[in-house]
Amino acid sequence: MNNDTIDETTATGPDNTPGTPATESRAASTYRPGLEGVIATRSAICCIDGEKGRLSYRGIAIEELAEHSTFEETAYLLLYNHLPSERELKEFSTLIARQRHLPLSVSEAIKKFPVGMHPMLALQAAVALLQGEDFYADDVSSPIHNIRRAISLIAKFPTIVAAFDHCRNGEDPLPPVSKYGHAENFLFMLMGDPPDRAVAQVLDKCLILMAEHTLNASTFSARIVGSTNASIYSAVSAAVGALSGSLHGGANERVIRTLYSIGSADNVPKYVDEMLDSAKKIMGLGHRIYKTTDPRAPVLKSYIPGLLDKVGGEEFKELYEIATELEGEVEKKLSHKKIYPNVDFYSAVVLEILRIPIDLFTPVFAVARSVGWAAHWMEQVDTNKIYRPIQEYIGDLNRPYVPIEKR
Ligand code: COA
Repeated sequence: MNNDTIDETTATGPDNTPGTPATESRAASTYRPGLEGVIATRSAICCIDGEKGRLSYRGIAIEELAEHSTFEETAYLLLYNHLPSERELKEFSTLIARQRHLPLSVSEAIKKFPVGMHPMLALQAAVALLQGEDFYADDVSSPIHNIRRAISLIAKFPTIVAAFDHCRNGEDPLPPVSKYGHAENFLFMLMGDPPDRAVAQVLDKCLILMAEHTLNASTFSARIVGSTNASIYSAVSAAVGALSGSLHGGANERVIRTLYSIGSADNVPKYVDEMLDSAKKIMGLGHRIYKTTDPRAPVLKSYIPGLLDKVGGEEFKELYEIATELEGEVEKKLSHKKIYPNVDFYSAVVLEILRIPIDLFTPVFAVARSVGWAAHWMEQVDTNKIYRPIQEYIGDLNRPYVPIEKR
């Protein structure tokens, strides 16, 4: 029997009693809430050591990439599985620059999006709309076409986010400028001023650090949708939807609101006690995989003092003080549960200092993660088997149908 089909004999349970758990196949099953600890795919893209707090892309430690690489080079590495030669990088960067413009159908649609829409939903919708300009999107059989689609999609993410931000404010979107790199372009399209090189470099490093992170909820969503042979637009728009949730990428937005609501570093101990007493989770802390510090957090934190010197702002200095105080307090009170700052904690502070609107924090994360999603989508369609896990049925069994007049 194929495990993919429901086995009626076992579906009714061993003794046919109502409420008896029944699995959909004869295969032994162990229910793991949240699929914790379940190996759901094999991948050669990214590696996390959650105990030691290590993260690498295609075998290269993220600390090294953040120090020496650029977003474009890291994107190339993730997509092609090797660091590019000078010529390859130049060609790749040119290709990205050429693909940044949105097709008219999509830029016109963005102008009509409801202004109150969350930017993540606008991004999700715009990504899906891009399929309308790719006539052969459903044919995923050609690796060359797939990688071209991936590059085109990655290139357009910042343009979509910046365009929606301008449109909801009643302004005209700014077109991308070919002389700027990815991060510089994004800042330019958002803010309208020629970007400061050093500031853009910090954003570039953030994008590197957030570009990929194995089989998290959004990447898994991309792989599940990809496993049906759906297009990259379907897979990636599903991933954007998954990233928008507060337990995933949406946490960075909530981190900054939390830090402002705490108000001052002196209030931190009281805030932590209140949260713990009411069994509430503090945003930007904890991780399903890392049982020690998320390696991205200290790297992001290290950019903040230099950024503060560069851009100034007393309110940002205070914000940083609150964040470091909160980190210290949580270390005292929660390290026994292995709860430490995750990527959202200090990336939120960095993005706030860069003066990115708060509800664009998660879209910035998506701009970076578009690379990981695309790489996973390509890996999935290359080695595909459609995802179809089984469930354990815990509902009633063998209930009679009662005619409506007798209920
Ligand atoms: N603040 C306070 N306590 C936390 C916590 C947080 N942010 N995250 C986890 N804990 C506690 C839980 O209350 C639980 O305590 P208990 O064992 O006494 O019940 C324990 O740590 C394990 O937490 P659990 O929710 O089971 O871990 P998980 O692996 O299912 O969840 C997260 C991981 C990321 C969803 C979770 O840590 C969280 O919600 N964090 C806040 C949101 C966030 O920052 N998300 C971005 C992730 S990159």
